[in-house]
Amino acid sequence: MTTRHFIIDTDTASDDAVAIVMALQWPDVEVDAITVVYGNMPLEIASANARYSVEICGKETPVYEGCARPLLRSVAHADWFHGPEGMGKLGRLHPKRLAAGQNAVEELIRRFGAAPGEITLVTLGPLTNIAAALIVEPRLAEWVKECYIMGGAANCVGNVTPAAEFNIWCDPEAARIVFHSGMKCLMVGWEHCRFDSALSFEEMETIRSLDTERAHFALDCNSYALEAGMTIQGATGLMLPDPVTMAIALDNRVCTRRSWHYVDVACAEELTRGMTVVDELNVTGHKPNIEVCWEIDKPLWKEILAQTLR
Ligand code: RIB
Ligand code: CA
Repeated sequence: MTTRHFIIDTDTASDDAVAIVMALQWPDVEVDAITVVYGNMPLEIASANARYSVEICGKETPVYEGCARPLLRSVAHADWFHGPEGMGKLGRLHPKRLAAGQNAVEELIRRFGAAPGEITLVTLGPLTNIAAALIVEPRLAEWVKECYIMGGAANCVGNVTPAAEFNIWCDPEAARIVFHSGMKCLMVGWEHCRFDSALSFEEMETIRSLDTERAHFALDCNSYALEAGMTIQGATGLMLPDPVTMAIALDNRVCTRRSWHYVDVACAEELTRGMTVVDELNVTGHKPNIEVCWEIDKPLWKEILAQTLR
């Protein structure tokens, strides 16, 4: 079995934590490093949550801290969705290991530059670290084998405003830099975690019955997200956008319909800030720059999740 190498960029709160566990548990994937960015949580809390997620899998994957705020805009967090420490009823987590460094941006450049075309990048938070790395070293776009972006809403309603999904809304300028960098990206919008892609109560019980530390962790850290998703966004179960994106990165069969389009990110107006405008009908005449996920195999995504929590 050939080992695939991943680097994960994350604003670790509850759904990120599950996505990190999935990657660390996947048999043919080696997570070379995790880079942390502000977003759901302030940087230092996201870092602690990421390091704890590594330790619960019994791994020693290095965690590097990166940008603590957007390129231009003021910082915003999502404790209103994930809970005060981002990990639901688990509260403040205290990992044993320290961060490997505060040089995530340099580490992204160094690691991808040392193995051009060999490492997959999965982004689970605002794209500020990636944009900063591209500003310092534009060749990063060619060095990344492929990038799976949890972000955006492909011509559909957002989750943080009517127009935008949180990761892109936090730093639309950073997203624009990444989207126009030439990096080979698949955009997985938040729409793919909604409706019957969310875990039903019955499916959550099935995960609980696995009775492993990881299964309990996955559910317990998402206790606030479950409530918030239901009360704020009308969900009928637990929406897990980062794990859906990670499932696609782990097994491409999860994404059943995907196509390349010109995609731009609205930055000028507050009303549309962070909107991912997908030229679905190719009417702009612009060259496609991003591949967009349009449909997923919902049972397969959930089977992959369960496989990593057993
Ligand atoms: O909009 C959902 C995204 O924003 C997820 O990555 C979640 O963790 C938050 O970062
Ligand atoms: Ca995230």
